[in-house]
Amino acid sequence: MKNINSLYLQNADLYNAISNDRDFRLQAETLIKTTSSNCKRMVELFSGQGMHGLELRKMGFDCVAVDSSLDMKRSAIDAGNYDDNSYIIGTLPFFQVPQNFSNFDAFFLLRYSCGYLNILEFNELILQCKSAANKGASLFIESHSMDTIYQGFQNLSIVTRTTSLGNDDVSCSWPSEQPVFDPYSHTANLKVSIRVNNDIINYISRENFHSFELIQFLAIKNGLKITHHSSPDYSKAFPGSIISQIFF
Ligand SMILES: C[S@@+](CC[C@H](N)C(=O)[O-])C[C@H]1O[C@@H](n2cnc3c(N)ncnc32)[C@H](O)[C@@H]1O
Repeated sequence: MKNINSLYLQNADLYNAISNDRDFRLQAETLIKTTSSNCKRMVELFSGQGMHGLELRKMGFDCVAVDSSLDMKRSAIDAGNYDDNSYIIGTLPFFQVPQNFSNFDAFFLLRYSCGYLNILEFNELILQCKSAANKGASLFIESHSMDTIYQGFQNLSIVTRTTSLGNDDVSCSWPSEQPVFDPYSHTANLKVSIRVNNDIINYISRENFHSFELIQFLAIKNGLKITHHSSPDYSKAFPGSIISQIFF
């Protein structure tokens, strides 16, 4: 069984194919509606191929990507979503604002990527954003509903996805079995099964599940305000997800 990082590090195009199940334009537009009116510069954290960044740039915003995978960077550049300077390779929670960029007005942490941070790392990420934030900036976080986790992901519509990559048929189950929870934390090993034509590759994705209550605690402890979004617009753009917004 491979670590899920090997999918991100060596097979970015396969991850991008299975994660193309969202309306990136609608998601970007929905997020932008609740940023401050003078929002210009943004950063997509755990950016992957940078599909949200692409939409944000089309809408006229400056956007930078941060991710640890060189193969993701290669796929983002190949797709025309970013260029070499605007896609930063780094291991979060730590990141540096590139010298030619000033501070940011919005930070995006989407598609459950906060699950790759434990609580201490999540706290550190909030501090890193705080030190790189302009006044009035926001950090948006997409996390799982706790209800989804307690139901063993049975109500998560994207658990099984079918798509194609070139001429290959691809399907993915994430998780493909009941998760195995750590007895001491909200952390579980999720088995991920990806089938390409007749070949099956199995991965383990170790994920932390952060409730809104925990994110709220981290925000308040750092002197920051926070809300979550459950309007019809947000529910349509991010079905089944919890979207938190921290204000700097
Ligand atoms: C679930 S994907 C999310 C990608 C994208 N945000 C999306 O919406 O599809 C997680 C991404 O986080 C990256 N990643 C995982 N751990 C990381 C870390 N510690 N620092 C930076 N990037 C990381 C992976 O390379 C991968 O591109």
